[in-house]
Amino acid sequence: MCGIVGYTGLRQAGPVLLDGLRRLEYRGYDSAGIALVTDDGDLFVEKRAGKVANLEDALAGDPPSAGIGLGHTRWATHGRPSDLNAHPHSDCTGRITVVHNGIVENFRELRGELAAHGHSLKSETDTEVVAHLVEDAYKGDLADAVRAALRRLEGAYALVVMHRDEPERLVGARFNAPLIVGVGDGESFLASDAAAIVAYTKKVIFLADGDVADLLPGKVTITDRDGNAIQRVIDIIPWSAEAAEKGGYPHFMLKEIHEQPTALTSAMAGRVRGETICLEELDPIRERLADIDRVEMIACGTAYFASLVGSSLMQDWLGVSARSTVASEFRYSPPPIDARTLVVAVTQSGETADTIAAARLAGDRGALVVAVTNTVGSAITREAHASVFLQAGPEVAVAATKTFVAQVLTLVLLTAEVSRQLGRRTLEQEHELVKELRLLPAKAARAIELSSVAEEMATRYADAVGFMYIGRAFGYPAALEGALKIKEISYLHAEGYAAGELKHGPISLLDADVPLVAVATRSVVYEKLISNLMEGQARDARVIAVATEGDENIAKLATDVLWVPDTAEPLSPILAVIPLQLFAYHMAVARGRDVDQPRNLAKSVTVE
Ligand code: G6P
Repeated sequence: MCGIVGYTGLRQAGPVLLDGLRRLEYRGYDSAGIALVTDDGDLFVEKRAGKVANLEDALAGDPPSAGIGLGHTRWATHGRPSDLNAHPHSDCTGRITVVHNGIVENFRELRGELAAHGHSLKSETDTEVVAHLVEDAYKGDLADAVRAALRRLEGAYALVVMHRDEPERLVGARFNAPLIVGVGDGESFLASDAAAIVAYTKKVIFLADGDVADLLPGKVTITDRDGNAIQRVIDIIPWSAEAAEKGGYPHFMLKEIHEQPTALTSAMAGRVRGETICLEELDPIRERLADIDRVEMIACGTAYFASLVGSSLMQDWLGVSARSTVASEFRYSPPPIDARTLVVAVTQSGETADTIAAARLAGDRGALVVAVTNTVGSAITREAHASVFLQAGPEVAVAATKTFVAQVLTLVLLTAEVSRQLGRRTLEQEHELVKELRLLPAKAARAIELSSVAEEMATRYADAVGFMYIGRAFGYPAALEGALKIKEISYLHAEGYAAGELKHGPISLLDADVPLVAVATRSVVYEKLISNLMEGQARDARVIAVATEGDENIAKLATDVLWVPDTAEPLSPILAVIPLQLFAYHMAVARGRDVDQPRNLAKSVTVE
């Protein structure tokens, strides 16, 4: 995915765009670029491979004076990361310029056609065809030309187009990639997400697929691709620009790990009331919920691991068959789906293309679709019959942390609520759960405190050639997520495995250079887990155990112990993951990695 920002108004556009790009950089950092229509009426374009800092160096802190412009930070799909392939891209006349997030699937055909008509395309990107299509269609009205070009495109796009000869106007459009409009006083913005513009305005319009937004300073007109007027409501962003800043921490990831107690409190806000749980978001679908006989969860990456907790709880508490499937695989072997199937799509960004496609398929086949997401107005909310928001605030580090714990918690709440509605759990059971939930934020804070040893430990383990993470039952998703954190940010191989499977293969990888990390918190599978831990110890592997405070037995068996407070088993992954996040964080720092923007990754992936 990529980050897009556009501005038209009375401010200096250059600094607004650079500020926006820095805040969007988590979306991709293969290249960055801006285009401005300067006060002298010229089209100025600067773009550089690599991070926004390279672009800033090229501009030497002094972009030309302009009141309009657009900017882009790229996660490469078509065309390798280079200055040439960096956005913005321009047409033959050098008057029209475009930034784009998504994939133009028919770009080869369009390139051929444009070249045959005498256009000269310079880059290897799919995006450049858009500039030339707009050029062909332009008859003095940029919005008309963009709409005509859009009708030729297949695939996904969020794009912003600017014409040198209409020096106050920006035209944006979205289809299967996020784009929002920022409504200011005498100024207007376009951006991939609110983080880029919240410092200037909290009033936003979430564009829907097919929308075309025509912006002048302080004036926004929205139409469909055929030019029919559309009314969209203005939403208010509920968080401030500071929420998307580091706030004194060296990295966003560390800040977000420390925000977890608050994120847990927010995820429960308005939902844990007195002794019961109530998700009002489900009110419109109560009747259909009463009929469900199966649950399918779909998600990618960290959200998938959170969904594993959700599906095993659904199965246990609802007494219906429930499972989680990686969204990118769901479509190739879809389960039987009908109106009695509850499909839960879990996605932090709400924009992951694979998850959206899977949710759409489920919806088309009649399933009841519920989205669990952190992003109000995101694409997944349009695919779902109901959306339950994480309320975790913005997460900027590419490696997810606070949204994992918020996802697990939200899925617990969702399961509790549905199981009570179906009469599968008693009020007493719910009261017990609520008691534990209320203690959870303080316990998460305690887990962070107890993990202070992770920093020193990381210096001792920084030379490991790889890690094996194991867990059973609710400890298994925590092990998978712990291993993913290591992979993502320290670039070491780490494998998450069901502890019982260790002996069926991966145990051969263990030796003095490949430590075993075992999630061995108090649970019904504790004894079995201890046997697996000892299997590793017998192969000379250093053993790191995540264990429940007060477990004297484990300190004798493990090389190092990361302690967490005791809690109810379904909530245990929330606490167990915290020391694993901190261990991965300190490993990455010890190995000199780029913690917040690890190589090759992007925060959300809007291509399939
Ligand atoms: C990317 C991110 C992961 C994330 C996954 C799913 O791969 O790097 O951190 O878990 O996408 O993202 P979503 O927004 O759908 O939760």
